[in-house]
Amino acid sequence: MTLDDFRMHSFLSFITFLHIGSLVCDCHPHTLKPKNTTDAAINALDIAKEVTAYADVAKQIIDLAVYGDARNRSYRRLADFTDTIGNRVSGSKNLEMAINYMYKAMTVDGLDVHLEPVKVPHWVRGKESAEIVQPRSKNLAILGLGSSVGTPPEGIQADVLVVQSFDELKRRGSEAKGKIVVYNQPFVSYGETVAYRAFGASEAGKLGAVAALIRSVTPFSINSPHTGLQDYQDGVKKIPAACITIEDAELMWRMAKRGEKIVVKLTMGATTLPDADSFNTVAEIKGWQHPEQVVLLSGHLDSWDVGQGAMDDGGGAMISWEALSLIKDLGLRPRRTLRTVLWTGEEQGGVGSQQYFNLHKVNLSNFDLVMESDLGTFRPVGLQFTGSDAAQKVMAEVVKLLAPINTTRLEPHGEGTDIYPWMNAGIPGASLHVMDSRYFWFHHSEGDTMTVQDPHEMDLCSALWAVVAYVVADLEEMLPR
Ligand SMILES: *[C@@H]1O[C@H](CO)[C@@H](O)[C@H](O)[C@H]1NC(C)=O
Ligand SMILES: *[C@@H]1O[C@H](CO)[C@@H](O)[C@H](O)[C@H]1NC(C)=O
Ligand SMILES: *[C@@H]1O[C@H](CO)[C@@H](O)[C@H](O)[C@H]1NC(C)=O
Ligand SMILES: *[C@@H]1O[C@H](CO)[C@@H](O)[C@H](O)[C@H]1NC(C)=O
Repeated sequence: MTLDDFRMHSFLSFITFLHIGSLVCDCHPHTLKPKNTTDAAINALDIAKEVTAYADVAKQIIDLAVYGDARNRSYRRLADFTDTIGNRVSGSKNLEMAINYMYKAMTVDGLDVHLEPVKVPHWVRGKESAEIVQPRSKNLAILGLGSSVGTPPEGIQADVLVVQSFDELKRRGSEAKGKIVVYNQPFVSYGETVAYRAFGASEAGKLGAVAALIRSVTPFSINSPHTGLQDYQDGVKKIPAACITIEDAELMWRMAKRGEKIVVKLTMGATTLPDADSFNTVAEIKGWQHPEQVVLLSGHLDSWDVGQGAMDDGGGAMISWEALSLIKDLGLRPRRTLRTVLWTGEEQGGVGSQQYFNLHKVNLSNFDLVMESDLGTFRPVGLQFTGSDAAQKVMAEVVKLLAPINTTRLEPHGEGTDIYPWMNAGIPGASLHVMDSRYFWFHHSEGDTMTVQDPHEMDLCSALWAVVAYVVADLEEMLPR
């Protein structure tokens, strides 16, 4: 999950606003078109009847995934993959190995697999360190932020200005020149607080600061720094930016409040190389009746260069593969094509998926549903969905098929950096809602390892993913737009 999710939250609020706007309009009787309620009612009955007929096949998929031969398989696959390859940052050798690994594994699994070339950013962290020099010597755990420039080889040593918010920085703007700005902003929500990681360096750079250290965007910490993408504004001097831990941000805040002078030394070897060659990895089960029409399932293969990238987003990638395996193992083949895409360059702002969209949007009218799992594969609680009212009605029936695993909730707002281009173009979009209260504890940190994954929870996610994708791909009609 990236920065773009943050931008999209604002975008979604805007869409909601528009939506409410149109509802308000409907309240004026003279703007209402005459409705054939008989038609609508008959249609709803037909849909319910058509979808209910899939109860047996849904049960078969669930049984295979949760209690049958496929039990624990997506977890085992994820463990083998992330233990073998490790983390997979955009442009790295590891990401290349990961793509080859998945290409082979899904081919051996009997799926129809191909790679689609794209260019991705190539940022390299290099060696980095930071320490408080004054008022007492203390090492700081840091992680440089994606796209940050480095420091000179000898590092930067400067006085520190600690602030709690952008407002405070503005008020104390005259104090920032020549200093390292430390942000000790409280965690409100990822969507809101990530603005500090994204724009902290440029906001400090505008005021003449020499570097920015940003409190990690997480509600919980055992001295863990969390990395992620940051975004330099055009025309503003690029200064080095890294995340520090909650503990160290609060420590420096307390020191500053006591009037103590704080001096920090920061050394970062970060550099950006020319864009690298990479691939989106695509696996399919071709539809028997409308092979050109597509239900797309996805997760991203790239990660940050820390931990194992098991949760973000190895899990989402594995359940998107597993869903096709389950359907294939049962000898099922839907009317439309099921296409799993394992994106590259997601953490750099959805770079691989944007190029995929640009290439394939000529076939926009053949995309039925786009799905992405990028919020963890913990215990699922429901399906998040964006689509027209008519599409919502169909999906509300589809999720009823998930009664055996208690995940019959249809919630508003499908999300995912990689599927937004399609959703913005009007394609219905879905994402997995899991019990994600711990997601940001591990997100973009050394803590994102197999240890946070659970085989049973992954089975439930795979079952949900497979049932939704299969049934939508097999319905008589594509989802209404
Ligand atoms: C309304 O729907 C019914 C049932 O499909 C149909 O028989 C009837 O002609 C429709 N009426 C109008 C005004 O479209
Ligand atoms: C699945 O994983 C769970 C938890 O690790 C374990 O208890 C169980 O024996 C495993 N079952 C199979 C069939 O591998
Ligand atoms: C568009 O769809 C057609 C028909 O399925 C296919 O032959 C063609 O390769 C597709 N083009 C792209 C760019 O995906
Ligand atoms: C679903 O809920 C029922 C009733 O609470 C419970 O018995 C069952 O184990 C649950 N199923 C799963 C897969 O969690």
